[in-house]
Amino acid sequence: MKRLFVLFLRLLFLFIAVKSASAASQQVLPGEVWRDNRGEEIQAHGGGILHWKGAYYWVGEDRTQSNDPEKRYVACYASKDLVHWTFRAQILVLADPEHLGANWVLERPKIFHNPRTGKFVLYFHLDDVRYKVARVGVAVSDRIDGSYSYVKSFRPLDQESRDIGQFIDDDGSAYLIFESRRTKGFFIAKLSDDYMNVEKQVSFLRAPLEGGALVHYNGLYYLLGSHMTGWRANPNVYATSPSLSGPWTEFKDIAPPEANTYQAQSTMLLKIIGSKRTSVIFMGDIWKPRTLWDSRYLWMPVQIGSGELHLPSPHPWLLNAKTGGTTIE
Ligand code: GAL
Repeated sequence: MKRLFVLFLRLLFLFIAVKSASAASQQVLPGEVWRDNRGEEIQAHGGGILHWKGAYYWVGEDRTQSNDPEKRYVACYASKDLVHWTFRAQILVLADPEHLGANWVLERPKIFHNPRTGKFVLYFHLDDVRYKVARVGVAVSDRIDGSYSYVKSFRPLDQESRDIGQFIDDDGSAYLIFESRRTKGFFIAKLSDDYMNVEKQVSFLRAPLEGGALVHYNGLYYLLGSHMTGWRANPNVYATSPSLSGPWTEFKDIAPPEANTYQAQSTMLLKIIGSKRTSVIFMGDIWKPRTLWDSRYLWMPVQIGSGELHLPSPHPWLLNAKTGGTTIE
């Protein structure tokens, strides 16, 4: 009887241990269809993530097939574990704001929270069908997942701006990364106090790259980008610097060049500061230009440190957003 009771206790502990481990670690399936709480494919392409009051908010291009073709949409999802995403709202539903004409473009939306004004500020790439306008658009909201109102568009630092990326440094200061074809380079620029403008150039890297993503890890800045081949994937590259203003190293491949970034293009490097460790996730888009709504996400934890950054080949992996732990299966 006693032995039976001990066995029962053991089984109970095992059950609890397995349950809590599986509750904490969640599986990410790079390149697979990723569904939200409604069972719909997540529409957050070319997106960005903001950590806000204990939850992660993922915003991106909403390419839902049934959207009004005259309008452009940005969707917002929330999650605590970075794997199960609850659809919050289409936070921006915008009709052509600047007479851009048919098939105008809104891409790569990112949100910032301004500590001074309390507002959430949404930046995006705004363009016409030929990508000649090359501006950023700005919209604001009082709530992270509220309805954002369009404010204006402009060329940051008076430069052409196409793909944008966002970076928030450890001290909270906010930067926009943007590609500028005429200068054949990549800008990192600081936002103004209220985040409504792009104020100060911090770095210019003479490298024709886009899909800019930046992370600060263990005393070094890692800047990553893709070459300019439109929707087609190419070998993404990175450079490092001890300071945001440089000097930056030469660019190096993040994966074997023949792997072609596993058909993905960078959109963000997400730093997860967990209770046990800090991990960095490569967030990329596997674009499907003919069926953009079915474009996939390639998220993988990168091997990073001492000036090296490596994107492993995609495999299912486990993420524990609380501890920061990642395990590739
Ligand atoms: C990519 C860019 C995407 C989109 C696409 C259009 O290079 O990163 O955001 O603009 O080109 O061809």
